[in-house]
Amino acid sequence: MVKKGLLLYSGGLDTSVILKMLQDKLNMDVVALTLDIGQEENDLKAISDKAWKLGAVDVISKDVKTKFAKDFISKEIKADGLYDGVYPLSTSIARPLMSQEAVSYAEQHDCDVIVHGCTGKGNDQVRFEVSIKALNCDLEVIAPIRDWNLNRDNEMEYARKNGIPVKLGGKYSTDENLWGRSVEGSDLEDPRNPVPEDAYSWITPPYLSANEPLEVAIKFEEGLPISLDGKYLTPENLIAKLNSIAGSAGFGGIDHLEDRVTGIKSREFYECPAAMTILTAHKALERMTLNKEEVSMKNILDAKWSDLVYVGLWFDPILDHINAFENSVNANITGEVRLQLHKGNCRVVGMESQNSLYNYETSTYGKMDIFDQSMAKGFVNIFGLQTVNTTKARRNKIQELVRN
Ligand code: ARG
Repeated sequence: MVKKGLLLYSGGLDTSVILKMLQDKLNMDVVALTLDIGQEENDLKAISDKAWKLGAVDVISKDVKTKFAKDFISKEIKADGLYDGVYPLSTSIARPLMSQEAVSYAEQHDCDVIVHGCTGKGNDQVRFEVSIKALNCDLEVIAPIRDWNLNRDNEMEYARKNGIPVKLGGKYSTDENLWGRSVEGSDLEDPRNPVPEDAYSWITPPYLSANEPLEVAIKFEEGLPISLDGKYLTPENLIAKLNSIAGSAGFGGIDHLEDRVTGIKSREFYECPAAMTILTAHKALERMTLNKEEVSMKNILDAKWSDLVYVGLWFDPILDHINAFENSVNANITGEVRLQLHKGNCRVVGMESQNSLYNYETSTYGKMDIFDQSMAKGFVNIFGLQTVNTTKARRNKIQELVRN
């Protein structure tokens, strides 16, 4: 029986060669699916035309930017998602969305296989395959670049022989969506090299960015950004606008030597101006609106959330449990944060919140002070009790310390 496969199709060299090979090698009927998640190369019409020309039996293209912002990016903002404390997971969080769309269309079109264009060295194969199987374990997954050992040379050769139009990409391997741009390969592969100027695209290199600082104000409601400089915007528009503002101030570049799931250390450069600005503001507002224990537990669960998402476990139920905690604490994170962006830096320069836990009258050293200092004496005695008891019992050791 002829198999029917759903191919996640970008229109680039890899997936174009795959589209043709699946027909040649496996006699497969191929449905091509292209998603607009905010990448620059988003001429869906041109990509669809190419898929039809290469013999697809059906071609689907869909703008999923709103869904991406609403169901994926928003969860990350609430969880302050940063892998290794620095990478805002821009590529990582798009993969479960793409998998979800692929499974949904594969089911609608009676496909038995989903095909993706990942190599065997990266994280994305893990994210796609675990997500697809978690959503429908009866679907088979094929990754021809990995499974058939394809490389740039034999792909180019095949493309030439089969009349596949080839538009050569730049010297770097890149991946883009609304939340960020990932760049790897070429000069970045030598960690001794600084990030070369030609690796930048969304961001003006900080050393070339404007001398004048920029200021932006972001309003949050229950943990999510709703307005920029007083203007209410949809999440995807707010992010797009902030990408260009913060990018022009040189902010949002991350030069990261990263540990992949596959055990490989890779050097990646990320451009995530909106993500880094929003996460900086969110983190600040959370310090104003959450108490010490809430912040402390949130830090632990945020780090766990980020690790789980990085390694591709978006659909593991543990993430639902963590998201329930994140929703609960984020219900308090409402307010406005002002930030100054300047030559690659972003500083919080002011914030306010109706839910602020900052209490001027207890914090001030000025005359408005209502804090009763006499309460502190007894508190300090009791607080230090166990330490003082222990050191008393071990006096010899302590005396040595004092004498030296
Ligand atoms: N290392 C990143 C991640 O696993 C991004 C990989 C994106 N691919 C690229 N060609 N730059 O999330």
